[in-house]
Amino acid sequence: MLLDTFGRQAVDLRVSLTDRCNLRCTYCMPEEGLQWLAKPDLLTDEEIVRLVSIAVRDLGVTEVRFTGGEPLLRPGLVGIVAACAELAPRPELSLTTNGIGLARTAAALRQAGLDRVNVSLDTLDAGTFHTLTRRHRHDDVLAGLAAAESAGLTPVKLNAVLMRGVNDHEAADLLGWCIDRGYELRFIEQMPLDAQHGWDRSRMVTAEEILVLLRERFDLAPEPSATRGAAPAERWLVDGGPARVGVIASVTRPFCRACDRTRLTADGQVRNCLFATGETDLRTALRSGASDAELGDLWRKAMWGKKAGAGIDDPSFHQPDRPMSAIGG
Ligand code: GTP
Ligand code: 5AD
Ligand code: SF4
Repeated sequence: MLLDTFGRQAVDLRVSLTDRCNLRCTYCMPEEGLQWLAKPDLLTDEEIVRLVSIAVRDLGVTEVRFTGGEPLLRPGLVGIVAACAELAPRPELSLTTNGIGLARTAAALRQAGLDRVNVSLDTLDAGTFHTLTRRHRHDDVLAGLAAAESAGLTPVKLNAVLMRGVNDHEAADLLGWCIDRGYELRFIEQMPLDAQHGWDRSRMVTAEEILVLLRERFDLAPEPSATRGAAPAERWLVDGGPARVGVIASVTRPFCRACDRTRLTADGQVRNCLFATGETDLRTALRSGASDAELGDLWRKAMWGKKAGAGIDDPSFHQPDRPMSAIGG
């Protein structure tokens, strides 16, 4: 098991398959992109599957989520999913994606054993999409969403980050649009994980503000907290249900006390928290011939050192060196 000193057990593994992305969301990375990881530093498909299999077989991981950067940019994605779907006990398999290219791959991913997808979409307006992502790909995302739904990668969840003065006026429109289509929308508070280190608390749209914006059009009642578990989103029933909306208030109402996550970066480092300052190098151990048992021990040790929380409010808080796109969302 992957335990820490606060009694939490990590059962949810998030695997970043690449640090690259085909969008340039302003709250994530600069226009010119970043210094991408070099190919030899990336885990190979086989190395990823080996580490996931250790996590599932020996360490108690039951859910595996593939992230990026943009995971659909990883050429071996379908094969990785298929290999992970063969593991026993079979983990739940999901993907967090910006949706570009999903129209082409959704059916193959489903066939390979992917259970569901979370798609990021911050706006319904093609012009605002370009302002936010610096790319003209809004149609691709919409096509990807529709393909995910028809391939049965459900429930489809949508992630939206609101930026004041850019897309915050769209909060209620986004919710109405998702309800009409049966997608579960979650709004995410912007976290200090951007590559530019430009995060500013006073400019973040808070969970409280989001609820005010939504209540201009919808009646929201909290879902019983017992159903939340380790999920990052607090959920609200919309107009009496069954439609729901989630708010992931990672900054103002962090869920760290119930955190059940462990992360593997595309270059083979275990991170015990999004905001961890250190990493554990499984890639070097793996490439030096470490056994499964030795790799499992390293992973356990990495998780044992997990801090109580993200610590964004601590006076000594330092944003991690790696941006979110290189850690995995
Ligand atoms: P499900 O609820 O199982 O569908 O997945 P999820 O919400 O965990 O996954 P997703 O990748 O869609 O994550 C949504 C957002 O939650 C991310 O984009 C992050 O903003 C936030 N998030 C994910 N993991 C963490 C974490 O470990 N800590 C914090 N503070 N936020 C996280
Ligand atoms: N804070 C919160 N969410 C972020 N995302 C990217 N950067 C940040 C940030 N700094 C979101 C994306 C996507 C998901 C993977 O993470 O919008 O929905
Ligand atoms: Fe790409 Fe996600 Fe960053 Fe946007 S937020 S640039 S989609 S990694």
